[in-house]
Amino acid sequence: MTLSTPNGGTLINRKDFSKDTSSIDTAIELDDVSVSDLELIANGAFSPLTGFLNKKEYDSVVDNMRLTDGSVWSIPITLPVDEDTASQLEAGKEARLVYQGTTYGVIQIEELFTPNKKYEAEKVYQTTDDEHPGVNKLYERPNQYAAGDITLVKEIPHEQFNAYYLDPAETREAFAKKGWKTVVGFQTRNPVHRAHEYIQKTALETVDGLFLNPLVGATKAGDIPADVRMESYEVLLKDYYPEQRTFLAVFPAAMRYAGPREAVFHSMVRRNYGCTHFIVGRDHAGVGDYYGTYDAQKIFQEFTLEELGIKPLFFEHSFYCTKCENMASAKTCPHGKEDHVILSGTKVREMLKNGEKPPREFSRPEVIEVLIKGMQETVS
Ligand code: ADX
Repeated sequence: MTLSTPNGGTLINRKDFSKDTSSIDTAIELDDVSVSDLELIANGAFSPLTGFLNKKEYDSVVDNMRLTDGSVWSIPITLPVDEDTASQLEAGKEARLVYQGTTYGVIQIEELFTPNKKYEAEKVYQTTDDEHPGVNKLYERPNQYAAGDITLVKEIPHEQFNAYYLDPAETREAFAKKGWKTVVGFQTRNPVHRAHEYIQKTALETVDGLFLNPLVGATKAGDIPADVRMESYEVLLKDYYPEQRTFLAVFPAAMRYAGPREAVFHSMVRRNYGCTHFIVGRDHAGVGDYYGTYDAQKIFQEFTLEELGIKPLFFEHSFYCTKCENMASAKTCPHGKEDHVILSGTKVREMLKNGEKPPREFSRPEVIEVLIKGMQETVS
């Protein structure tokens, strides 16, 4: 076995920093989501995508979780534009992709189309409720989608933790250098608590390396900020993980909170980064009560292992058991709920904001220290 093949067979690279954009008059203003999509299409993390989806591919992704060539792709990557901008765009012409006053990319306009957003919400998020943060974002963005291949013409600058931004070609090279043939990817938008550590290390018992790949793009209000989390990952890795078997890099995508669909999407991206395995635990990428605890695992039944090109590793809800005196899940622990240390994310955030320490069975003290400091700086 070797590192996984990229989705679609080839790692996409849509960067051309020598491209001159000065003669392109039309510009599209990007939001936080589309600027990160631009970056991830260009660096190959979204292979085989070469641009923002056209109507045919969009329909295929929304209806079948696949591109028309059969490649697995479960989240539509689209470029919403407002009416005014749309009226200036012309099929066959280029437009500049501008973020906060700087041109970072170019799109070769293929077509413009108007999506049925309710239908998209129902299919992708399984709800049309605008209280759902992903659906809310979908509704809030402009109502026409511009489609076409993109080119990244200028590297998107990152204010913090620059060393952790790696392209899939670079993570693949790093894994190969370490001699890893099998790598398990771990997605998170949270600090790593004992339950995460447990499932990561359980997986690591059977593969060569762990790729800790926290999402650092746009998240909903209330989630712990990425800079605080990054510091917490660093202290955790330093004290509790074998350096030779762990690799940390960020995933600069926006969080969609699409639960099952996003789990499939997350696995495809980690496949592109070179992972051979991908962890899916309880309520992966979920929010509120929109998805069943294991829906994000069940959805993988709709694909063959061959078309996924990466092996999902499923984990039950894990916790510390005071009777077993170790981490466990319902699969390995015979005791009742009263013996299990389980705290909700909301409860933990509340404790951290008040400077209270969750128990060490829930989270490593070094991690808690960083989080309390970070959360208090955030609220003050
Ligand atoms: S998210 O990006 O999937 O929303 P989160 O940090 O909540 O991030 O979870 C990261 C991964 O750990 C997901 O695969 C999730 O299913 C899994 N996970 C989180 N908590 C637990 C737990 N207590 N037991 C088992 N799996 C868990």
